[in-house]
Amino acid sequence: MAMMLQLIFVLSTLISVTVSIDVFGHFGISVELDIQHPVPEFHDLFWVFNRAYNVLKYSKKHKESTFYSHYKGRVEFNVETYRLTLKNLQKTDSGLYEAKASGNKVRVVAEYRLSVLDPVEAPVLTYQLNRDTYIITLTCRGHDISIHSSCSIETCEEKEVTSPGGIALSLSVKSSTVICNHSNLVSWKTDILELKELKGLCADKGAHARSNTNTSRYLNPFFAFIVKFISMGLIDQYLICS
Ligand SMILES: *[C@@H]1O[C@H](CO)[C@@H](O)[C@H](O)[C@H]1NC(C)=O
Ligand SMILES: *[C@@H]1O[C@H](CO)[C@@H](O)[C@H](O)[C@H]1NC(C)=O
Repeated sequence: MAMMLQLIFVLSTLISVTVSIDVFGHFGISVELDIQHPVPEFHDLFWVFNRAYNVLKYSKKHKESTFYSHYKGRVEFNVETYRLTLKNLQKTDSGLYEAKASGNKVRVVAEYRLSVLDPVEAPVLTYQLNRDTYIITLTCRGHDISIHSSCSIETCEEKEVTSPGGIALSLSVKSSTVICNHSNLVSWKTDILELKELKGLCADKGAHARSNTNTSRYLNPFFAFIVKFISMGLIDQYLICS
């Protein structure tokens, strides 16, 4: 039993030591990596990449920082806080970053897993009017995912999908603007559409019933279709052109 407890203790300290914080960035930006644990007395402090490459060595005695070649010109180090700033991120910077204080013992005082992601592509928002049902369907497409939504007279259904990698696509309506939003953990881009434009599409549908461009006349085809659909027993919330 005692042995078991000891084992659990050892395991849990191992786990607590190796917990790293996920950091996401995209190409070209900077990230700041701070020390997470109290720093014991040390002679040298290292920031190490993927447990194999030194990014930087700070010698306390000589108050001297040594920067290693791979990051030349892209690294800043704060000698007060030991914070590491990586600038102008490259995709190859993705990996594990550890700060190690080395004296009598070597202590890991910070651990981060950095992922440098590409910014998302701009999404595309399109619409289609079904001329039989007068239902408008919106399609919000971003990279290899898409979502569809139907519109009612006043608004459109809001939808969102998120893929495991944190890539999300959403369709939302904010003060008469339809927003198609494509995002990942580091960036987002949108394509937008005014509800007015959809209503205009309906108005064009009923153009023959319109004698001039007085907007209050747009209501004529509106009522005509409502009556038609009620009488057919088909009225529902997706009749933008009703
Ligand atoms: C798009 O989505 C991202 C992530 O969810 C969010 O932070 C951002 O505010 C959204 N943009 C708009 C215009 O809604
Ligand atoms: C539009 O039509 C309404 C009713 O038919 C009328 O009262 C109004 O003056 C018109 N407006 C314009 C700008 O023509």
